[in-house]
Formats: sequence, structure tokens, C-alpha cells
Amino acid sequence: MHIPVMLNECLESLITDPSGIYVDGTLGNAGHSNAILEQLTADGRLIGFDRDMDAIERVKANVKTEAEHRMGLVHDNYSNMATQLDRLGIDQVNGVFLDLGVSSFQLDIADRGFSFQQDGPIDMRMDQSCGQTAGDLVNTASEQELADLIFRYGEERSSRRIARAIVDARGKVQIETTAQLAGIVERAKGGRKGKRTHPATKTFQALRMAVNDELASIEQVLETMAGRVVVGGRIVILTFHSLEDRLVKQFFNRHVPREESLQQGGVRRYYEEPPMKWISKKPVIASEEEKSINPRSRSAKLRAVKIEEE
Ligand SMILES: C[S@@+](CC[C@H](N)C(=O)[O-])C[C@H]1O[C@@H](n2cnc3c(N)ncnc32)[C@H](O)[C@@H]1O
Repeated sequence: MHIPVMLNECLESLITDPSGIYVDGTLGNAGHSNAILEQLTADGRLIGFDRDMDAIERVKANVKTEAEHRMGLVHDNYSNMATQLDRLGIDQVNGVFLDLGVSSFQLDIADRGFSFQQDGPIDMRMDQSCGQTAGDLVNTASEQELADLIFRYGEERSSRRIARAIVDARGKVQIETTAQLAGIVERAKGGRKGKRTHPATKTFQALRMAVNDELASIEQVLETMAGRVVVGGRIVILTFHSLEDRLVKQFFNRHVPREESLQQGGVRRYYEEPPMKWISKKPVIASEEEKSINPRSRSAKLRAVKIEEE
């Protein structure tokens, strides 16, 4: 089961006009989307994106009849959100929501290859209709490329040692399964050493981020959608690790006006358009109670901004 993270906090930050149009870029199991729809009036609409066709089909099969005409489903990368909204004839929206990363459904299905807990082919693509798999990457990228991406996207200090071990192993036999890969990384890192997190966690995160080009997608949706949210509307994002959180925080910070005193007197206000205001300067984190019930919420940070008048 996928339990939506910080559900109430997300709804409170996001919904300002119950008859407005909201976009959920990461539909998943529609945990957040359904709750958003429940808070909207009969005029309100929700457009849900997912690049995973399984998610779209699952939500389509379960959508309540009364909500059907208020919910639009789009199978695409959220990086194409603005173009898809053009296609739907929607110019401005009242809120954009993203719950980054993978869903429990994706993690739990061995064939999707996201997890070392379930042995399966090393796929890791959120959209299985296109692109190279993580297995392709592991078996064809150069040692330097592997070391760089494991370091960059996994922030893994043993990236060189792991890349070397992968290249050595694939010289003997093709690396085909997640268990095989997890074993290679574990041995390269000298075993588990009693740690709670698996030694391959960061490497798996790095491969997933590379295969799905995750940071570029986040950057693109922010760049193209910031100007499509009405004044007073919100952008609300749940991040799960430091790389995506830093990217989101820095983007919002560039839009929050700062003032600089001028030598000749007066002040200069500077910001990237549109101006934004933090809903709360510090990221919101899950309560201890939620963390104990839903492990996925432990690393979550909620960042939310309001679009301001220019
Ligand atoms: C964490 S889950 C969302 C869970 C959802 N909020 C819920 O409560 O059911 C993230 C979902 O976003 C999708 N996703 C991730 N990156 C995406 C992207 N760039 N474009 C579209 N969908 C994406 C994944 O396929 C996954 O289904």
C-alpha cells in the first residue's frame, strides 16, 4: 500500500480556491490527488500526470464516477506539463503539486527493478515505453561515467571503488538482476558492517535518477510552470533527498524578492519572475507519529511557495 506523505500539510499548503484547477505531477496511486479532489467543489478540476502507464491505468480503473469528469489523466513526464496544459486549453492553474520519487507500487514489483529487496531485472525506468534501462547503463557505461554518476546522483563516496567492481564483474558475466548488482556493490563497500541501510542504497538511487533524468525534469517543470500559476496560487513539493531538495530550495529562493541597500540611498528589490513567498521558511517535516507509521515520510521535506503580485 502507498500511504500519501504529509497529506494534511500538503492540502493546507496547496488549496486556496476550491473551485480552481490543480495539477498533480506525480499521480502514483492518487493518494494526494483523490484527497485534493475531495476538497474541491463541483467546478474544481484536477489534472494528474504520471510517466508510468501502470499508475495511470490503476487510477483510471479506480476513479469514483462522481469525480471522473473533474479529473484529467495524462501519461507523460511532468517536465512537459506546460505543453500538455496548452493542449488541454488550460492557461493558468491554482496550484502545482509534486511528490517526488518512486511509489511503493513501483518498489514492490520485482520486475520494475527499482529495489534490491526484490530480485528482478535492472530496469528502473518509470516510463517503460522508452529510454535505456539501468541494466543497459550498468553494462555499457564506461568506468568513469559510472563513477561520476554514482558520485553525483548518489553522493556516494565509494563511487570509484563501486564503478571498478561493476566493470570487473561485467567483464566475467553480464549483470542482469538487482540482487547481482546489490551483491557487487555490497562487496565493493566491504559488506554491511552492521549498518541498517543497505550499502547499495545510494548506488541504486543514483542509477534511478540517471535513467529517469530526474533532476532535469524537476528543473524543467519549475521553469515552465512558475509563470502558469495564478497570483496567490501555490507550488508545493515533497522532496526525499538532499539533491532534489537543494534544487527546489534554490529555485524558489531565486524567486523570493531580496532587498539590497544602494550606496546612493534607497533599496533595490531583486528576484526572478514571478516573485514568490515562502509559505514557511523552513521545510515542513513529518510528525514523529507519521514517521513511525510510514517509513517513507522519514526523509520527506515539504517546500511550498505562494505566487506574489509583481
Ligand atoms: C511518490 S509517487 C506519488 C504518490 C502519490 N502522491 C500518492 O499518494 O499516491 C511518485 C509517482 O510519480 C511518478 N513520477 C516520478 N517522476 C515523474 C516525472 N518526471 N513525470 C511524471 N511522473 C513522474 C512516478 O512514476 C510515481 O508513480
